[in-house]
Amino acid sequence: MSKWWQIGIVYQIYPRSFQDSNGDGVGDLPGITQRLGYLQELGVDAIWISPIYPSPMADFGYDVSDYRDIHPLFGTMADMDHLIQAAHDHNLKLILDFVPNHTSDEHPWFLESRSSRRSPKRDWYIWRDPAPDGGPPNNWLSRFDGQSAWEWDAKTGQYYLHSFLAEQPDLNWRNPELRAAMLDVLRFWFDKGVDGFRVDVSYRVMKDAQFRDNPPNPNWQPGMDPAKQVIETYSRNTPDIEHFNRWLREVADEYEDRVLIGEINLPPHELVKHYGRSLNGFHLPFNFNLIFTPWDAAAVRTLIETYEVALPDGAWPNWVLGNHDQHRIASRVGAAQARVAMMLLLTLRGTPTLYYGDELGMLDGDIAPEQVQDPWEKKVPGLGLGRDPERTPLPWTAVPNAGFCPPDVTPWLPLNADAAAVNVASQQANPVSMLTFTQKLIQLRRETAALNQGSYHSLPAPDGLLAYERRHGEQICWVVLNMTGESKKWELPGDAGETSVLLSTEAGELPGIANGALHLRPNEGLVLSV
Ligand code: GLC
Repeated sequence: MSKWWQIGIVYQIYPRSFQDSNGDGVGDLPGITQRLGYLQELGVDAIWISPIYPSPMADFGYDVSDYRDIHPLFGTMADMDHLIQAAHDHNLKLILDFVPNHTSDEHPWFLESRSSRRSPKRDWYIWRDPAPDGGPPNNWLSRFDGQSAWEWDAKTGQYYLHSFLAEQPDLNWRNPELRAAMLDVLRFWFDKGVDGFRVDVSYRVMKDAQFRDNPPNPNWQPGMDPAKQVIETYSRNTPDIEHFNRWLREVADEYEDRVLIGEINLPPHELVKHYGRSLNGFHLPFNFNLIFTPWDAAAVRTLIETYEVALPDGAWPNWVLGNHDQHRIASRVGAAQARVAMMLLLTLRGTPTLYYGDELGMLDGDIAPEQVQDPWEKKVPGLGLGRDPERTPLPWTAVPNAGFCPPDVTPWLPLNADAAAVNVASQQANPVSMLTFTQKLIQLRRETAALNQGSYHSLPAPDGLLAYERRHGEQICWVVLNMTGESKKWELPGDAGETSVLLSTEAGELPGIANGALHLRPNEGLVLSV
């Protein structure tokens, strides 16, 4: 029997930008609860909500100052309890974000830890003496500015490690007390009925025990992401990360039917190790490789095949096209290919994760310099690293502020300029909109075992087309995607027999099959029943 997290579709909500219910211009938990009907109708199975915990918001919630409470911006614990219940009433699973690599520098644990070298929590964080020259202990760099990842603490005369902002000190998971405290956080939420966690930068949690210098990156040039000046051999994905993965899994396994999803930004052969040697690691180590592969049929086919081959026995695949850290898919590949991309995401073998707003084909927002919120953009402006563009509010209707927040309130990030046209209500009313198409595609996936759990095989196709078969028992689907702006002919790989086209990314009449072939329009993707 397949699990819900295998057959199902995950939908990521960036809570600040989904629905404001109290008129402060920031989305919140009651806002999500209000919109559960929309998600149910869309046809997704689970929602993952980025962090909603108390936080000074140096990194918009990824700097947690209390793992067991709710930030007042997002509501109260009662709102969360209500959301968990309401989600379940809508047949939706609820996945929270767990941030184990670092806390906020305002977390009481860190305040205690930095108070003295003899603090009982000193070792809960990563403190080191200066190098012999008085400088930082090694050459590790902060992800957000490419400056040293070590911050000097004059009072206690040591450096602490921060893989991200100085306001996000890294935790020391080699300390058993810290570990126990963090694992209890998982239990706290599991006990409340939460169905799983997306685990923030899980592959960074264990660092080299000897704190060796990272090697320089020979391919780095000025103008590139400054953090990439070194290759992160020793500051992430060290061999003993498997222990961390297993500790988490053991807690999840104390409960029934929960899921752990790791945020792991690695190529397939490294990524799949995070399933665990005897599959005692993550259920789903997030597979981001589609985001980093050129949008080209041959490259995508190679990626799918490489990943399928790399997957260990018993490992369930998954695919991601976008999230709150990546420019939106419709901006990356264009509006026409965004539909093809959606068809790909929802017809590949494995659990898809959909980023809020991608079902509308939302584009990156235009953020004026004075509107910038993201610390990454503030640290290294102008390199295109800022993440505000993909975090703009979801437009619900055509009114000013698009029903996200009241018309007279300034939202925390501006609505997209095209929100009066690209919004949920207008797309619901349009039979050929991206939203209607996505909904049909989800419906088809839900009702077709070949698509939601069948095997994957590549099919022959000319340049520019990506074609594959999904098969479950007797049921066979073919998917063929025209990843170019030109018309293309596809010769069916077998007897046309009863083959028929079930769904197209394009409006209008479905293409017919004649003489064992069909013609795809520019940017057209098709699902066929064989
Ligand atoms: C993850 C999050 C990102 C955050 C970072 C630090 O990559 O997705 O948004 O800034 O971790 O927590």
